[in-house]
Order: sequence, then C-alpha cells, then structure tokens
Amino acid sequence: MTGDKTTLWLSRLSVTYRPRTAGQGEVRAVRDCSLRFSRGEIAGLVGESGSGKSSVLMAIPRLLPAGTLISGEIRFHEKGAATDLVKLDEGAINAWRWRRIALVPQGAMNSFTPHLTIERHITEVLEHHLRMTRRESRGHAAELLRTVGLEPSFLKRYPHELSGGQKQRAALAAALSCDPDFLLADEPTTALDVITQKEVLDVIVQLVRARGMGLLLVTHDLPLAAGVCDSLFVMKDGLVDDGGPVREVIESSPKPYTRSLIRAIREMESVNTLGVNTLGAGTLSVGTPGEAYACDASISGREEA
Ligand SMILES: Nc1ncnc2c1ncn2[C@@H]1O[C@H](COP(=O)(O)OP(=O)(O)OP(=O)(O)O)[C@@H](O)[C@H]1O
Ligand SMILES: [Mg+2]
Repeated sequence: MTGDKTTLWLSRLSVTYRPRTAGQGEVRAVRDCSLRFSRGEIAGLVGESGSGKSSVLMAIPRLLPAGTLISGEIRFHEKGAATDLVKLDEGAINAWRWRRIALVPQGAMNSFTPHLTIERHITEVLEHHLRMTRRESRGHAAELLRTVGLEPSFLKRYPHELSGGQKQRAALAAALSCDPDFLLADEPTTALDVITQKEVLDVIVQLVRARGMGLLLVTHDLPLAAGVCDSLFVMKDGLVDDGGPVREVIESSPKPYTRSLIRAIREMESVNTLGVNTLGAGTLSVGTPGEAYACDASISGREEA
C-alpha cells in the first residue's frame, strides 16, 4: 500500500540497451526490477559494479540513450492517482524532470558544460522549467548555492574553477533548484576525500529531510547506506535481489548475496587497523531513522496501491 504518500513505484522495470553497431549484442541491464519508495524516505540502492543501478536511475526520468528499450512501469502515485512515466511522450516527461524528479547523475561533477558559468547552469533550469525571468533566476541561484554551503560568488565561476567537492555541491544545487519531490543521486560522494564525502552527504541528507523529499541514493558504501537510509535495495545482475527496511536487510536478510556483502564489510572492518570509519554510522550498524521514517519499502511490484 502506498497510503496517501507520494510514491515512486517501479514495477517489473526492464532496460535493454540496443547495439550501436553491427556485431554488438543487446545488453539487458535491468530485468523485472520492482521497488518503491515515498516522499520523506531515503532509500539506498547498492550492488556490484555493472549490476544495473545507474540504468534504473536514468530510466526513472527517462534519460537513457535514444533507442534504449524500457518495459514495465514507473508509476508516480499521488493523491490516489498514478501516472506511468514509461508511457509519457518526450514532451510530457520533460515536465516531470527537475520539478518532480531530479537526478544527480553518476560523475555529475564532470558533466558540466565547460564554457557555461555555474550561474548559467542553474538559471537555465529555472528559466526553462519554472519560467523564471533572468533576474529572478539569478537571485534564486544565489540562494541555492548558500543552501548547499557555497558562497554566491561561485556563481560567476566556470566549472574548471571549482574543486571536485564544490562541483558536486553545485550539481546538487542544480538538482534541487525546482524543489523536486524525488531526488535520485548516483554515487554523489564517490571520488571525493572522506571528509568532503561526509560534508556533501550531510548536506544531501539534511536538505532531503528538511524538505520531505524522497531520495534514492546509489552507493557502493554499505556502511554509509546503513547509517542514513530508511530502506535498502540490493541489485545483482540486473535484478533487485533484496530489499526492505534497512535494519531488516542488514541484520536479518536471508539472501545469500546480501549476506556475502555484509560479511565482506565486516571482514574489512576487522582488519581495519585504524579502527575508525569516518563515514555515516562509522561501521556497519543501522542508523536512527529520520522523523519521516517510512518502512513501507518493498520489492514487490504486485501489490495494489
Ligand atoms: N549506454 C549503454 N550501452 C550499452 N550497455 C550499457 C550502457 N550503459 C550501461 N550498459 C551496461 O549495462 C549494465 C549495467 O550498467 P550500469 O551502469 O547500470 O551499472 P551500475 O550498477 O551503475 O555500475 P557501477 O556501479 O559501475 O556504476 C552493464 O553491463 C553496462 O556495461
Ligand atoms: Mg553506475
């Protein structure tokens, strides 16, 4: 059941990349993936490299390369009604991007257009999607930068004039610009030093909690996920192999793949001579859920709304 919470519900979602040249085969990157999460909830998506995590995230706002096949449903449940985003044409889905669902893609810090200032990156989104004037969008962009802990003076800079952590914050500011219901963040702290990772993650979690958004967070860092997420999904070979409230998944999942992931982390912890982990809960322990804790996460796509 989704209750009356605004919920994203992926049901039997499959993603198949088509060959670009003769001789290449199709890649079925995601197979019958079912998961759901609601506003006010932080859901983690973990799994080995190539298991399909980014493909799931890119599929939701339909930002996969042209020609990629999507089947199944991506339902946006709100006030008793559901919209299947898979069925929307390009014009219609564009209205959902940024305003309802925003994506911080994998490697976001490297995806800025080099000849545009940070200000232009953000104001373009505001002018296009919220119909703000240039003057309004500039004021709003300055506010957004402050929200993610950057001085407004960074607006005048070009992407190469920012550090990795600053670019990651700027990408986050752009994603938050239209105050979306759902934020999809693909490894938003990878490639940052551990202190900056913690700072950027703290900003994300605080903003998501304060605004009551839903967050789907892709990470390779299981201790981090355990520390901040309400629910956790585990992908393997294109399938969502496990999922549910984070405590249940970490502490009592019967799934062999989940158990092997957890065992590997625990073994690493036991040989960690520093004895500390500067992130999240520190070690593989489950954090205190936020106020908006919603343990209705489920990998079932078959229940009725
Ligand atoms: N544009 C594409 N064309 C063809 N195959 C692709 C494309 N993008 C991804 N794939 C393939 O789809 C599968 C899933 O990739 P995906 O990027 O979703 O994995 P991931 O779980 O995000 O991995 P990582 O943790 O390394 O980021 C992989 O086998 C990958 O090679
Ligand atoms: Mg990825």
